[in-house]
Amino acid sequence: MAAPGALATFDVAAIRSQFPALDQLVHGKPLVYLDNAATTQKPQVVIDAIRRYYEHDNANIHRGVHALSERASKMYEDAREDVRAFINARSTTEVVFTRNTTEGINIVACAWGDENVAAGDEILITAMEHHSNIVPWQQLCKRSGAILKVAPIDDRGALIVEAFEQLLGPRTKMVAMTQLSNALGTVVPVAELTTKAHAVGATVLVDGSQAAYHFATDVQALNCDFFVFTGHKVYGPTGIGVLYGKEAILEATPPFMGGGDMIGSVTFEESTWNVLPYKFEAGTPHISGPIGLAAAIRFVRGIGFDSIHAHESALLAYATERISAMPGVTIIGTAPVKASVISFVMDGIHPHDIGTIVDREGVAVRTGHHCAQPVMDRFGIPATARASLAMYNTTADIDTLVRALARVQEVMG
Ligand code: ALA
Repeated sequence: MAAPGALATFDVAAIRSQFPALDQLVHGKPLVYLDNAATTQKPQVVIDAIRRYYEHDNANIHRGVHALSERASKMYEDAREDVRAFINARSTTEVVFTRNTTEGINIVACAWGDENVAAGDEILITAMEHHSNIVPWQQLCKRSGAILKVAPIDDRGALIVEAFEQLLGPRTKMVAMTQLSNALGTVVPVAELTTKAHAVGATVLVDGSQAAYHFATDVQALNCDFFVFTGHKVYGPTGIGVLYGKEAILEATPPFMGGGDMIGSVTFEESTWNVLPYKFEAGTPHISGPIGLAAAIRFVRGIGFDSIHAHESALLAYATERISAMPGVTIIGTAPVKASVISFVMDGIHPHDIGTIVDREGVAVRTGHHCAQPVMDRFGIPATARASLAMYNTTADIDTLVRALARVQEVMG
């Protein structure tokens, strides 16, 4: 198996060889894994890092003077530095470990929102958000009396930027938007929209959970106030996510959860808070999570986003061409700028039947509303089938998918 850093050019076969789960038969057929927007497979280096941690270094962090605790604490904090570099944050004080994207957004909606949003204020989201970036804001609106505004998308699934601009105003306190739609594949021009949102004094949260494994993240260039992503989509483990916040904003935001490690001192009368980022990390954290995530980040950086993005873009173009050429198949989401996701419906066939039949051919796709029911409502459909790409997918995977879809039409026709 080649070392990740040793890949001089983008060699998809060498990359695939580092993902043990890809090498298996499903229902007697070679696995074709096209459900990467739900979660990606894990390279051996991630599996090894987690295993090594539990075999050699397992201890609680920030609490012990013994060797194992010091080792585990160092690994945890080194991982924070890897994440800082990955998203180009100014400082590790701006990197908070969470469970996932959903938790990151909930921290902002609760801790920042309860402090900064009042009755009559407005929260602006887009019509292509997944539930994680809708429900916490609805809950905040319920608590505060604020109003949720939704910027519409057009028939291709692109954001209507003029409508977004018209919805911005002096009462807009928060703009929360995805960088890449998990259901449609639309890439949202978040840097440009952040500038517009800042012009009216709004705070901006960018949900990078879908984007962070397709292109490089630079929170300073985006200039967003908060950025969230999840580890399991960037080839890392489940149960670990990241909330980035600009230091001054995090400083001014009260903690979300109370408990151990987030305190400076505790008496029965009152408690004081720890410094950033620990103020937002109450209790014993998921220590192996950042360690696995750091291994994933090093793996991805070793290959390089330029190569990953070029490979995935070529694959998306190939898949779009092949799938749209099939009679009776309609792609949902054809925005001019897209990445990695092809959602589609087939005439007279329920997406769940598509998912079940292609699974018998060894092909894993997701079917359903993709945790984005309003997107389905927008297109007047209950669900889609979705093929989503990652760095290890090939044109052969797409050919197998297309053959499996033809089989679906044969069986259901
Ligand atoms: N949000 C994830 C998906 O798109 C789970 O499948």
